[in-house]
Amino acid sequence: MIFISLIVSFIPFVYADIPLDIPKFSIDLDRQPIDRWSDIIPNFVQPMNEFNDAIRAQIPKAYIDVAEIVASRLDQHIPQPYHDEIYSIAQAISMPVADIVLINLVYELRTFCTSLLVRTSNGTIIHGRNLDFDLNTDLLRRLTFQGNFYRQSDPTFTYESIHFAGSIGLLTSSRSGYFSLSINQRVIDDKDWWMNALMLILHFHSLPLFIITRSIFDNPLMSYQDLKDTLQYQHLIAPVYFIITNGRTSGMIITRNRLNSIHPIELNSTLVQTNYDHWLERDPRRATAEDILGSFNSTQMTSKNIFDIVLSVIPVLNRLTVYTAIMNPGEKQDIFAKIRTLKPR
Ligand SMILES: *[C@@H]1O[C@H](CO)[C@@H](O)[C@H](O)[C@H]1NC(C)=O
Ligand SMILES: *[C@@H]1O[C@H](CO)[C@@H](O)[C@H](O)[C@H]1NC(C)=O
Ligand SMILES: *[C@@H]1O[C@H](CO)[C@@H](O)[C@H](O)[C@H]1NC(C)=O
Repeated sequence: MIFISLIVSFIPFVYADIPLDIPKFSIDLDRQPIDRWSDIIPNFVQPMNEFNDAIRAQIPKAYIDVAEIVASRLDQHIPQPYHDEIYSIAQAISMPVADIVLINLVYELRTFCTSLLVRTSNGTIIHGRNLDFDLNTDLLRRLTFQGNFYRQSDPTFTYESIHFAGSIGLLTSSRSGYFSLSINQRVIDDKDWWMNALMLILHFHSLPLFIITRSIFDNPLMSYQDLKDTLQYQHLIAPVYFIITNGRTSGMIITRNRLNSIHPIELNSTLVQTNYDHWLERDPRRATAEDILGSFNSTQMTSKNIFDIVLSVIPVLNRLTVYTAIMNPGEKQDIFAKIRTLKPR
C-alpha cells in the first residue's frame, strides 16, 4: 500500500522545531449558545479569514455547494444548542453560516495524526497525540488554542480541548477523572468520501463528529462505558479512529466504518494509532513510535519522555504537525500541549 508521504527524506539534523505555548480561552456552557463564542472568535479574525479563503481555493466547488445547502437548512441538520453556536461564530466574524459549517467539516475530515496510549509503572495511562494537518499547516498553528469548557453553575463540571478557532467540535479532549479522546482520520480507498460524508448529512441526517463529540463531553452523566458504546455504535459520516482511555484501568482504539466498529483493541502496555488499520503493515510513523516505546523500560514511560522522545522524533513529528498534546485524565491533570513548528533550518 502507498502511505501518504508526510516528510521528504531530508536528513533529520537539517530540521529545527521550537515548541510554542498555546493561548488559552474559556467557554462557559451556561451562556446562551448564541453568545458562547463571541469573546473568543475576535482573537482569530485574520487567520480564520485566510483559512476560509484557502478552503474556498482548494476544495472543489461541488463540496462548497453542498455545504451551503446544509447551512441553509441548519435547523434540520444540526441540533441545538450547536446550530446556535455555529451562528454565534458566524456572527462574531461576519462570515456566512455556510463557511462556518464548511470550516467545521474540513477540520474533522482532514486530520492525519499519531495517537498513543501508554501504561505507566504506577498503572495510570498517558494519552499522547500529534495532530498533523495537510492543508495550510502554518495557518492551523495560528488557529490553535486550548479551550476550557465549564459551567458556572457547576464547579465540578469541566473539560478541556485543544481547539481550532471556528470549530465547535472536539478532536483532542480530556475530562479529568472521566476520560480522554483523540480522533484520527482513517484513510480509505474512496475518492468520493468527502462528497459521501456531505450527502449523509443532507439525506440521512447523519451527525457530523463535531456534534457527536460535543454531545458526549457536554453531558455530565456520560460514563466511560457510555463513551465506549457511543463511539462504537453511533452512525458516522466518515470512517475514523477513536482513541480513548479512562486514564486508570482501560484504554482502547476503536476502528470505525460509517456504521460499525471493527476489531477494537484494548490497551495492555502501549498502543499506537496513525491513519491506517492496526492489522495492516506498519507505516513509518507508527513503526517509529512503537519501536521507541518498545525500547523503553517501565520507569521510562513518563509524560516527559513521551513528549520529548516519542512525539518529537521524525517522522512522528513532521512538517505537518500542528501540535503535540499529552492527556492524563486519571491524574486529573490539565492537558499539556505545545504548537510544533518543525521546519527545514
Ligand atoms: C493484550 O493481551 C492479550 C492477552 O495476552 C492479547 O490477547 C492481546 O492481543 C493483547 N493486545 C494487544 C493490543 O497487544
Ligand atoms: C531504565 O532505563 C534507564 C535509561 O536507560 C536507566 O537509567 C534505568 O536504570 C532503567 N531502569 C530500570 C528499572 O531498568
Ligand atoms: C504515575 O506515573 C506518572 C508517569 O510517571 C506520573 O505522572 C504520575 O504522577 C504518577 N502517579 C502517581 C499517583 O504516582
